[in-house]
Amino acid sequence: MTRAQIVGPDILDEPFPIEFIGSVIKGFGRGSKELGIPTANVSPRVIPRALQEMLSGVYFGWARVINDRKEDSEVFPMCMSLGYNPFYNNKTRSAEVHIMHKFEDDFYGKELRAVVLGFIRTEQDYPGLDELIQDIQTDIMVTERSLAREAYQSYKYDDFLLK
Ligand SMILES: Cc1cc2nc3c(=O)[nH]c(=O)nc-3n(C[C@H](O)[C@H](O)[C@H](O)COP(=O)(O)O)c2cc1C
Repeated sequence: MTRAQIVGPDILDEPFPIEFIGSVIKGFGRGSKELGIPTANVSPRVIPRALQEMLSGVYFGWARVINDRKEDSEVFPMCMSLGYNPFYNNKTRSAEVHIMHKFEDDFYGKELRAVVLGFIRTEQDYPGLDELIQDIQTDIMVTERSLAREAYQSYKYDDFLLK
């Protein structure tokens, strides 16, 4: 399926931006091992109601993990999956943030701050792992291109992230 390379309006629209803060918890641990795409899981309880009530699927924006190591504490692009992961048939809704940076250490227990700026797609089931990985790789590319616009770049310096 051909997918749009840039999503969302050039100027942000309601209900975005949506900010949240939470500590990183353990997921099922498949992100790094099976997919080669690590995710920082946060409790869905920290997700603001406006986002809770939106479609399950993939969102994009900026995120920061508060770390001892300065290079790992910067604001990076992120895409996040909010939902039930139909490929794995999870019974509870999870919020998993893929941050586009190679971290030195894992970030369990650390504080994550994120600002969500738009919606990419609804969550899907796939015939195999390769198709899931390929779609996430496309999400990463779409995130980078969508964030490149001026209105979206400005949120990288949002006070909320830098506090
Ligand atoms: C950007 C992104 C998009 C994703 N899209 C889907 C999806 O469409 N369907 C799905 O079943 N899982 C999707 N996932 C979730 C992966 O299945 C999930 O990260 C994996 O199960 C690892 O979960 P774990 O950290 O709890 O082990 C997505 C994950 C990310 C980071």
